[in-house]
Amino acid sequence: MIYATLKTVHVLSIIVWIGGMVFTHFFLRPAVANLDPPVRMRLMHDVLGRFFRAVLVASLLTLASGVWMLGRVAKQVVQSGGSFQMPLAWTIMTVLGIAMVGIFMYIRFVLYKRFDRCVAAAEWTAGGSALAKIRYWVAINLGLGVLVLLVTLLRGTA
Ligand code: HEM
Repeated sequence: MIYATLKTVHVLSIIVWIGGMVFTHFFLRPAVANLDPPVRMRLMHDVLGRFFRAVLVASLLTLASGVWMLGRVAKQVVQSGGSFQMPLAWTIMTVLGIAMVGIFMYIRFVLYKRFDRCVAAAEWTAGGSALAKIRYWVAINLGLGVLVLLVTLLRGTA
């Protein structure tokens, strides 16, 4: 029951995180591209601020539930006298998952903070370049997330 709950929290958090990145990158960004820079950047500032608050929670839940599941499986194997061998797909998920959390923290606490200052000071050129960097790193995180999903969900189907 605990394991199933952890896995549900894990997957729901991933849905919020990956789904939000897909929406922002492929639907919101192109739709606002032709707005005047002040309007576009104020809108993106508001949307990203709300989204990043949700991702802060979702990314920490992903990490905590993932590590907790790993710990439970490892403990059970060791308690029943075996030695725990982490499956390759889990190792890839853990390493890339931690990288994704690190990249998100950089986006939120370095790039978004910079963007926030630019919007407050109405510096639209500098704001545009901060936003472009956010877009770049969100695309990297989306790529890593999709890779983790493919490795995790397609394992054992060859
Ligand atoms: C942050 C570090 C992470 C750790 C330590 C971790 C660990 C785990 C563990 C132990 C499981 C249970 C696997 C099972 O019972 O078969 C799991 C399931 C899963 N994880 Fe992660 N994970 C992490 C990040 C991620 C990320 C970033 C994604 C997707 C982008 C992801 C997607 C999934 C999915 C879809 C499942 C369900 C797999 C299934 O039931 O077939 N995880 N994770």
